[in-house]
Amino acid sequence: MNQEPYEVIARKWRPQRFDDVIGQRHITDTLKNELQQGRIAHAFLFAGIRGIGKTSTARILAKALNCVSAAGPTPDPCNQCASCLAIKQGTATDVMEIDGASNRKIEHIRELRENIKFAPAKLRYKVYIIDEVHMLTREAFNALLKTLEEPPSHAIFILATTDVHKVPITITSRCQRFTFRGVGTTELAQALQKITAAESIVIDEQSLLYIARRSEGSIRDAQSILEQVISYCGKEVTQDKVSELLGMVGSESIETVIEAILSNAPEDMLNVVNSLVLQGHDLEQFYKELIEHFRNLLVLKMSSKAQHLIENTILSTAVLQRQIQSHSFQELQQIFKYLLRTEPTIKHSVYPRFTMEMALLQAAQLKSLESFDAVLHTLNTLGEKFSYFKQQPKVVLSDPDERPPTQPTDIIQKAIEIFQGEIIILPEVNSAL
Ligand SMILES: Nc1ncnc2c1ncn2[C@@H]1O[C@H](COP(=O)(O)OP(=O)(O)OP(=O)(O)O)[C@@H](O)[C@H]1O
Ligand SMILES: [Mg+2]
Ligand SMILES: [Zn+2]
Repeated sequence: MNQEPYEVIARKWRPQRFDDVIGQRHITDTLKNELQQGRIAHAFLFAGIRGIGKTSTARILAKALNCVSAAGPTPDPCNQCASCLAIKQGTATDVMEIDGASNRKIEHIRELRENIKFAPAKLRYKVYIIDEVHMLTREAFNALLKTLEEPPSHAIFILATTDVHKVPITITSRCQRFTFRGVGTTELAQALQKITAAESIVIDEQSLLYIARRSEGSIRDAQSILEQVISYCGKEVTQDKVSELLGMVGSESIETVIEAILSNAPEDMLNVVNSLVLQGHDLEQFYKELIEHFRNLLVLKMSSKAQHLIENTILSTAVLQRQIQSHSFQELQQIFKYLLRTEPTIKHSVYPRFTMEMALLQAAQLKSLESFDAVLHTLNTLGEKFSYFKQQPKVVLSDPDERPPTQPTDIIQKAIEIFQGEIIILPEVNSAL
């Protein structure tokens, strides 16, 4: 049987034209203009997280510089001429892709400097693509400096890095710098949708969103996860199987826990945690999602016009609206801050389940901290009425995270004696006493 060799999605879908590069218009448009106007820099620096198009764009640029279907550099390489094909297949000897991690020593750069002097063998330009350039040694960077500043007119450098902060300023300042951005969830899901449609894969929108969220902005990651999902599910992908595979938590669990926190229903919370554990879900991931949702609630509470700023939600806006209804901004913010602060403790805990349970229970109690404010307000008001209190420092509390200021103890104690039963005293206050 004569079967075509299988090509993984990420390779098969590598963009071949500037317009196919997703989410980086600010870069591809600039490059196209430069090519159009013949104002091409001699050194570029492509920075940004993994799998968002740095190498792909570098190769397109190499084709654009060398395509023989045009008389000179073109914004629209043909992808059919001998030069374009050789670059696409990685066989063009004039386009050098150097891995900075394994060629990091000064000897490697010296060799490059020797080699760069010679005119290109076949193409118009020699193109040096140095990947992970931040891995070069200090000596290697120094050896590169002069060549980078004034390379021969037939040579172009494209340096790529996921860690631009490790590239010395002497290097970055000699390059035209482009920052590739992480791609948003919706845009990622759309890109995946296009692939699945072309590959005749049946998949629902929610599953695509799940995959997109997991990829945290990286297109290659999104494609690799999709590949894995297809291997697991075949041509018909179901939401259940995707969440099973990715250990994704369904909207129900998130919704229940948020509502349990907001209404202080510990049993519901613990039940959800229990079922997450039984189903083998990743608790850390769940906690992260919870934090994201509280962030979304805050955004929505801030302004109903801020809906476009809501990221990564698997809950409908109607559910979010319902959740913020009877809670103040301050209340939501307290919970958000608390979850954010406790996230590392769950991550590093030997008992992540118990740590998370305790954190959730505590988060639910925070809500009542507002009555702590109310207590203090009451005390201050009372203080004004009674001469005893007039001589004491006024109790001020703006940030509920802080301990009560200097000596409120005797005021509170006195207030308890006088108005016992009328004021709610929280455990936090008791422990402060
Ligand atoms: N902006 C993009 N548009 C379309 N596809 C992309 C894009 N970015 C990445 N991809 C997909 O991911 C694969 C890898 O992309 P590429 O090699 O360009 O990433 P990179 O930014 O160089 O990543 P790394 O930092 O890991 O080297 C491509 O083959 C392509 O399928
Ligand atoms: Mg790369
Ligand atoms: Zn061509």
